Amino acid sequence: MPEDKPTGSRGNDLRHVCIIMDGNGRWAKKRFMPRFAGHKAGLSTVRKIVSSCVEQEIEALTLFAFSSENWRRPQKEVGLLMELFATALTREVKKLHENNVQLRIIGDLSAFSEKIQTLINNAINKTAGNTGLVLNIAANYGGRWDITQAARKMAYEVQQGKLAAEDITEESIENYLSLKDLPEPDLFIRTGGEKRISNFVLWQLAYCELYFTDILWPDFNKPQFQDAIDSFRSRQRRFGRTGDQLKEE
Ligand code: IPE
Ligand code: IPE
Ligand code: MG
Repeated sequence: MPEDKPTGSRGNDLRHVCIIMDGNGRWAKKRFMPRFAGHKAGLSTVRKIVSSCVEQEIEALTLFAFSSENWRRPQKEVGLLMELFATALTREVKKLHENNVQLRIIGDLSAFSEKIQTLINNAINKTAGNTGLVLNIAANYGGRWDITQAARKMAYEVQQGKLAAEDITEESIENYLSLKDLPEPDLFIRTGGEKRISNFVLWQLAYCELYFTDILWPDFNKPQFQDAIDSFRSRQRRFGRTGDQLKEE
């Protein structure tokens, strides 16, 4: 069951935001630029949204950077995205660290080159002790992959006698998912106009508020982010109850 009053220790009703950053390619195309220019512009939007989350004392931000399906793109684009990922892991970490941000990368990381895996480990280790915003970058991530890897880990533990089948509950499953130990996402945003989940976090979206906007990711700035937050705040989260019940509380 989701928590009744999901306000964290920071007193914020918005604890975890997850975003599908979509529309980079179309943003570039509109400007007669190569798709990669859109991805680069998208990275500067990431900086702005991270800074906004830090300012607003949000506990966690989860960004979909590369899906398990994105390997199907032309090889050249995949290669350029990997280069951009490596550059970001090298250049952005210092500033994140200064802002007390804890960086995590979620997804099947075994598919990345050794160089990228080393950069990921360095970045994660450097910021591991930070107590501010937890920034999850979903890379080679898929919601179905996440549930599958959790099921596999649990099955091994049952096989080894470490876990009893009766102890597999909704709560215990969460401890095996990539977003374990974080509050469930409260607000899901997708930019770029599509109204689909594209295999992003699936389990945790069960009671999340969904927000879709046509704005392309490189054009999504602090005011547009604030519009999404305002929309979230105008909604009544009932978690199965009636509106009248909530008024009585
Ligand atoms: C999202 O933008 C970024 C990634 C998937 C890496 P797109 O590249 O999907 O942009 P559009 O949807 O083609 O405009
Ligand atoms: C979803 O965007 C993945 C990321 C933003 C990383 P896509 O542009 O790949 O999604 P689809 O394929 O249009 O659903
Ligand atoms: Mg897209």
